[in-house]
Amino acid sequence: MKQFKCNVFVALLLLPFAGFTQTIIPAPQSVTKAAHSFDEAKISQLRFIYSSDETLEDEINVFDEMINQLGYKAPEHKISKYDVIHLQIDTHMSGSQYTIQNKENNSIELRGTEDGVFYGLMSLLQLIHQSQTNSTLTISNMADYPAYDWRGMHLDCCRHFFSKEFVKKYIDLIALHKMNVFHWHLTDDQGWRIEIKKYPLLTKIGSKRKETMTDKNFDPYIGDGKPVEGFYSQEDIKEIVRYAKSRHVTVVPEIEMPGHAQAALSAYPEYSCRKQALEPLTKWGVSDDVFCTSEATIRFVEDVLDEVMALFPSSFIHIGGDEVPKSRWKACPVCQKNMKMNSLKNEDELQSYFIKRIDAYVTSKGRNIIGWDEILDGGLAPNAAVMSWRGEDGGIAAARQKHKVVMTPGTHCYFDHYQGNKNTEPLSIGGFTPIEKVYAYQPAPAILSAEQKKYILGAQANIWTEYIATTDHVEYMALPRMSALAEVLWTGDKRPGFDDFKNRLRTHFTFLDKLNVHYATSIFDVTANSNIVNDHVEVKLQSAYSKNGSSIRYYFLDEKAYLDIKKYSDDQPIILSKSCKMKAQYFENDVALGHALTDEYLIHKALNKQITSDIEPSKYYHEGGLPKLLDARAGHAPRISSDWLGWSGQNPVLIIDLGKSQDLTNLNIYTLKEEMNWIYLPSKIEVSWSSDGTNYEDGRPMNAESIAKAYTENGLNYSLHHVNARYLKLHFTCAPKIQKGKPGEGEDAWLFLSELVVD
Ligand code: ACM
Ligand code: ZN
Repeated sequence: MKQFKCNVFVALLLLPFAGFTQTIIPAPQSVTKAAHSFDEAKISQLRFIYSSDETLEDEINVFDEMINQLGYKAPEHKISKYDVIHLQIDTHMSGSQYTIQNKENNSIELRGTEDGVFYGLMSLLQLIHQSQTNSTLTISNMADYPAYDWRGMHLDCCRHFFSKEFVKKYIDLIALHKMNVFHWHLTDDQGWRIEIKKYPLLTKIGSKRKETMTDKNFDPYIGDGKPVEGFYSQEDIKEIVRYAKSRHVTVVPEIEMPGHAQAALSAYPEYSCRKQALEPLTKWGVSDDVFCTSEATIRFVEDVLDEVMALFPSSFIHIGGDEVPKSRWKACPVCQKNMKMNSLKNEDELQSYFIKRIDAYVTSKGRNIIGWDEILDGGLAPNAAVMSWRGEDGGIAAARQKHKVVMTPGTHCYFDHYQGNKNTEPLSIGGFTPIEKVYAYQPAPAILSAEQKKYILGAQANIWTEYIATTDHVEYMALPRMSALAEVLWTGDKRPGFDDFKNRLRTHFTFLDKLNVHYATSIFDVTANSNIVNDHVEVKLQSAYSKNGSSIRYYFLDEKAYLDIKKYSDDQPIILSKSCKMKAQYFENDVALGHALTDEYLIHKALNKQITSDIEPSKYYHEGGLPKLLDARAGHAPRISSDWLGWSGQNPVLIIDLGKSQDLTNLNIYTLKEEMNWIYLPSKIEVSWSSDGTNYEDGRPMNAESIAKAYTENGLNYSLHHVNARYLKLHFTCAPKIQKGKPGEGEDAWLFLSELVVD
C-alpha cells in the first residue's frame, strides 16, 4: 500500500502542467503530445526499422549494436505498414536537428540531418529500455536539437593506460548522451601513448614507467614498484577513430607541448634543453624538463603532428600548452639565442613563439590548433582556439579576441574532483564538484556580449587519471556527472532544472545498469546542516531524494549505537547537547543507497561565542571567517580546505569572549601538519586568560617541542587547571620559513586552525 501511494505521489509530481516530458537524458528541446492518445505509438510494439536513405545504414547498424549491448532485441530491418520506425534524411533541417512524429498504424517517423537521425535513435534507445518494464509506454512527438556544438568528454590515458575496448565503451557513453567530442589525452610526463612510426622510441621507451607513486606520498616519496605501460598502435587508433565516427563522435587528439613532455624526452633527450637522460615521471605534478625551442625540436614536433593529422581527421588538433615551467629555457643558450633573434622580451613570449610556429604549421595543413588557456600568455597564435581550464577568464579573453573557446573550468568541469564527502569517496586529486554544481553550469559567461558568446563552442569535462587507475573508477568519476553536463550542453536555455533532472536520473541509472556502468551513487548521500542554538547544536539531514517517501536513518556511534537506529523526520532538527559522533544514511524500501555519513560534533563552552583576531585569515583560506573556530565542527586530515582557516607566515592573536566568567578546565586546539602543502604546526602558542579583558594572566607557553609532542588528529590539548575567566587569549607563532629540501623551501609556512574547544 505504501509503495502504491508513493508511486501515485511521484506520478503526480511528473504530470505535465505546462510542458510535456519524456524521460530522456539529455532532455529534448520540445515534446508535444499527439492529438489523441491512440495516435501515440506503443514503443514496445515497434518491431521494424526502415529507411530508403542508404546513408542511414550505418546509423541503423550502430543502433542495432547498442540495443544488443543493452540486452534487447533489435527491430527487424524491414518495410512494414505497422509498428515501424521510419527514418528519413530531411534536407530542410540543419546542424543536428531531428523530429519524431507519430504516424498511423502504431508507427513513427524520425526525420533529421544524418547527425539528427542518429540522436533521434539515441532518444529511442532510452525509451525502448523503459518500454521493457512498461509495455504501454508511448512516444510523443518531439523536435530536438543541441544548444552547443562542442559537447565533450576528455580522458587522460597517460597517467594511467586504458585498453582500446574501454576507450570504445567511453565513446559509447559519449554518444548515448548525445555528446560529440572525445578529447584523447595521449602524451604527458608520465607516459607517451601513441605510436609514431618515425620515432619508435616514443613508445618503446616513453610508454613505460617503472612504477607509480602510492596515494599522495610525494615526500618522502613512496613508489608501488609496479611497472605501468601501454600505447595505442596506429591500427588501434584507426579502429577507434572509425568506431567514434560511426557514433557521430569526433576524436580530438592531444599531443602536449612544450611542457608535459618528459616521457617524450626520455626517448629523445636531444629535444630537451639539457639533453640529459630522463625517465618517464613516476610521481604526479609537472616536470621542469620541457621541449627546447630549437629548430630540431620544432621539426620533430611537426613530424609527430604529420602522423597525428594522418590518423585523426578532426579539424582541431590539441597541442596542450599548459603548465610550462621556464627554468630550463632560462638556462639554455639555444632558447636564449632564439629569444634575442626574435626580439622576445621574456620566456612567456618564447612559449607564444613556439605555439605560433606550431599554429602556422597545423594551419598550413588545413587544420586548427586548440590549446589550454596558457597559450594566451605572451600573445595568442592567430588561428588558435582556447580551452579554458583555469576558470573562465582565459575563455572570456579569447572570445573577446574573436577566438573560438571551449569552456572546461576546474570549478564545474573537472570530473577528477570529489563529487561527495571526501571521507567516503575514493581518494582524488582534490576539489569538490558535485553533480548539482555541474548541472548549474552556464558555458557562455554572462559578461560576454551576444556577439562574443558565439565564440563559445561549448564545454567539456576532463578526467585526469593521476588517482584513477581502473576503468570502474573512470566510470565512477564520469557518471552521472556526465549526464548532467550532457543536459547542460544539449538543452542550453531550456534546461528543465535539477529537480526534474534528478527524477529522470533514476530511470537513467537503470539504463546505465544495463550497460554495466559503474556510476557513482553519491547523489543519494546524506548531507547535514548544523546550527548552533544557545548552548546546543541542531542538525538537519537531507538527501537529494528525501522528499520522495523514503527515509534517512541515523544513530549515535557513542551510544549503544546499533540498538537505537532512528528515522529522521523531514526538516525536524536533531538536538545535540553533548559531543557525539553521528552516522546517517539514505534508505529506500529498507535498501541503503549512497554512502553513509559520519559526522562529529563538539559541544563546548565557547560555541558561537565572540572571537576576534588582530590578523584576518588569508583570503585563500577564510571561508566562514573566525566563527568557524567555534562552530562545533573540527577539521581533520586529509584536509578539506573549507574546514580550516589559514595564515601564511603570520602570528595572529585570537581572543575568545565567553560572555561571563566561568570555571575552565581545558583547551583543545585543532591545528594541522601537512608539510607537502606547506602547512606546519605553530612554533609557539601562548595562552592567557582574563576576567575583565584588560588584565591577563599568562599560562605556561607551549614551545615547538611540546606542540609536536601533544599534536594529535584530535587536537592539541592544553590544560587550564580550573581557572576562572571570561576571556581567553591565544597567541600563535607561525613556523619559520620552510627549510631547504622541503616542498616550498624558502617560502612562508602556513598555520591552519579549525575548532578551538573550550571546556
Ligand atoms: C590542466 O588541467 N593542466 C589542463
Ligand atoms: Zn632550450
